[in-house]
Amino acid sequence: MFITLEGPEGSGKTSHIPYLVEYLREKGYTIFPTREPGGTSIGEQVREVLHSLKNTEMHARTETLLYQAARAQFVEQVVRPRLARGEIVLSDRYADSTIAYQGYGHQQDLEQVRALVKYATGGLVPDLTVLLDVDVEMGLKRKKKADEWNRLDAYTVEFHQRVRSGYLEMVKQEPGRWVVVDAGKAWEIVQGELKNVVLEKIQKA
Ligand code: TMP
Repeated sequence: MFITLEGPEGSGKTSHIPYLVEYLREKGYTIFPTREPGGTSIGEQVREVLHSLKNTEMHARTETLLYQAARAQFVEQVVRPRLARGEIVLSDRYADSTIAYQGYGHQQDLEQVRALVKYATGGLVPDLTVLLDVDVEMGLKRKKKADEWNRLDAYTVEFHQRVRSGYLEMVKQEPGRWVVVDAGKAWEIVQGELKNVVLEKIQKA
């Protein structure tokens, strides 16, 4: 089973994953946590280029293509082999981040971006995607405080508003795959809801 976590900046995804993983392992599941962009040696190198605060001249199309390059490697090297062995792969971001950030955020042609994503993933779609939804200004504040600022965080608040609206639009378009968790709530409450949503999906499979 392939599960992905998505969300605007500062939604807290990354802080929740280790606890979610431990919880599922205690229940006896084989779970492989990973992240995008990255998860492979090639992907981590591409991540460096994408996130470096030095690369301010990067065009939106370059950015879109670099994410797909990292993703193609990720799907082939990490995700498909583990799914084939019956493992649960849990990824901190995946293809929907491209639709949200490069598609909605940068206002690139959505059909073209979707086609690129399909090419990069070979059509691999998650079984479940959890959106940790958070108010944009609250999220950006959290991220700045945590000292995890990257090149994309420095885009305008309007960019990040479009990202969030894009996610909510995707939820509407594919309600069977997405579950929304309100990440504006207290951390423990968000963690509890996340565990319930993921466990329910795994038990139903
Ligand atoms: P984070 O998950 O550590 O916040 O960093 C990932 C950053 O990369 C975040 O700003 C979102 C961005 N991103 C995209 O813009 N497109 C993508 O396809 C992916 C995977 C990430």
